[in-house]
Amino acid sequence: MTSPLSNPRLLALVLWLAALVAFVAASVETSRTRLADELEVTGRTLHRLISQRVAQHDAHLTTLIALSSGAEPAPDGAVRQVMESISRFYPRIAWLALVSLGPEGAGAADGGAAEGASQPAGITAGAETEGSGAAQPAGVGAGSAGGVSVREVVAVPALGGVDLAPLAEKIAGQVRGRPSVYAAGEGRYLLAKRAPETSDLAVVLMIDATKLVEPEERPGFAHLVLSLDGKALVDLPADASLGSGVLWLKPPHFEKVIDGEGQRLLLSLDRSLPLAALVPPGRLLGFAVVAGLLAAALAFGLGQRAAVKRSLLAAREAEERLAVQERETLLAHASRVNAMGELASGIAHELTQPLTALLSRSQAALRLARAEKPDMAKISGALDVNVREAKRAGEMLKRMRDYASNKAPERARQDLNAIVAEVVALTRTDLERRGVALVLELTQPAPEAVVDTIEMEQVLHNLIRNAAEATGSGGVVTISTGRVGREAKIVVSDNGPGIAAEVLPKLFVPFFTTKADGMGLGLSLCATLVERVDGRIAAETVAGGGARFTVTLPLAREA
Ligand SMILES: Nc1ncnc2c1ncn2[C@@H]1O[C@H](COP(=O)(O)OP(=O)(O)OP(=O)(O)O)[C@@H](O)[C@H]1O
Ligand SMILES: [Mg+2]
Repeated sequence: MTSPLSNPRLLALVLWLAALVAFVAASVETSRTRLADELEVTGRTLHRLISQRVAQHDAHLTTLIALSSGAEPAPDGAVRQVMESISRFYPRIAWLALVSLGPEGAGAADGGAAEGASQPAGITAGAETEGSGAAQPAGVGAGSAGGVSVREVVAVPALGGVDLAPLAEKIAGQVRGRPSVYAAGEGRYLLAKRAPETSDLAVVLMIDATKLVEPEERPGFAHLVLSLDGKALVDLPADASLGSGVLWLKPPHFEKVIDGEGQRLLLSLDRSLPLAALVPPGRLLGFAVVAGLLAAALAFGLGQRAAVKRSLLAAREAEERLAVQERETLLAHASRVNAMGELASGIAHELTQPLTALLSRSQAALRLARAEKPDMAKISGALDVNVREAKRAGEMLKRMRDYASNKAPERARQDLNAIVAEVVALTRTDLERRGVALVLELTQPAPEAVVDTIEMEQVLHNLIRNAAEATGSGGVVTISTGRVGREAKIVVSDNGPGIAAEVLPKLFVPFFTTKADGMGLGLSLCATLVERVDGRIAAETVAGGGARFTVTLPLAREA
């Protein structure tokens, strides 16, 4: 299974990436909102400042008009003084003039005040008549247009003013007391106001719009444009170092009209959204590291949990295996005890013989001992034989007891020829009773394998019993041992009818039997016991008739 859920590392990686994506998304959203808010606040502040400044211009106009054309007009010198102080205090007011408007020809003769004012400054006659009033070289401080002449009465500075001639008619046409705005090129505009009824005077201010925003107020992060009737007076780009914005987000924009007494200026601010501002690399790195550590901890935790689960599972499997083995051992024991019943009569017979011989030889020895001159040589000879016989009988009983014992299997390096000999000793009488001959072909040196002696004896006993049952009286059972490569072989063959082809595949299946009184457990038990020690068992019918069972075991490695 390779679903991310089953692999803690993959899961942690996926979660980490998801967290990074979420962080970037959240960061972009909050940064965008913050940057837009910042722009809005800056825009409002600038709007307020510029509005205040623009409002002052109207106040200046009002003051100057009151001064020059009030009930008691001040002398030109006084007006000039006020103008000079205004000019000093407000550097953005580039030029001020008190002009007299009259019918054509009225004031043109007396225009010395602005002698040398050689900067027409590209005046166009207001935005509403854009392009119609072409600039005229001034040269003199007075001029006329459309039947209206304009004459500078006082101008500060006296030089470097503006040729108002192209605007004369427009100014003359203004509603009295209401200021009007005219574009003046180079980021400047003119603000003109006519005096009340009784006077033909007007005051004109030339304002340098670039100075409406102080250098320290300029927002470096935004592109600032201050425009008059769609034409930019001020155009301050954002700092180049900020880099260009991402294309997939609409950049924040601020726009607000400054309605300062006829001076309709439009303030607009634009801010680009560079990636670094949206997702600060330092914060992204910090987050990636923290999230990475958490993900690693998670992967570790999940890995530990999986490992614990695996080991629990392994423990349970081992337990189950043990339980199965225990059951098989029990079954093997039950089967041995059952077989013992069959062997018992033969063994009892085998023991009767030496016991009878022991008895008669002991009686004879007694007689010899009681004679007048006991023949010690004969007596000790008889006793020698008795001891041997008694030992043999004792060995036979021990063999039986061992075979029927319920000891836990103990695997150790064992001589396979010796195991064959033990089984033969146990079963010999039984075979004799059945009239079955036994042939042994044991290879020398004896092959050795790591097995439990009793279990191997039980395997061979089952095979020998099956062979004897197959041949019946007059049959021959051959047991041979041998080596092939790194394996030991024990072969039990007989000259019985062999195994039918349709029976062969079912031979080792538990409870399969063709015998009336068979249990069908012998061969399945053999397979279990042999496989427990990494061996295998195979059955076949030999060419000349008869069955052959081969037990193959791994040879014990040379010590
Ligand atoms: N040497 C053999 N020759 C022919 N058939 C055999 C031989 N050994 C086993 N079989 C067949 O395999 C079957 C299964 O043998 P298995 O030893 O497992 O059970 P069983 O001998 O029938 O009963 P039991 O549980 O008493 O041993 C036998 O019933 C028999 O048909
Ligand atoms: Mg059997």
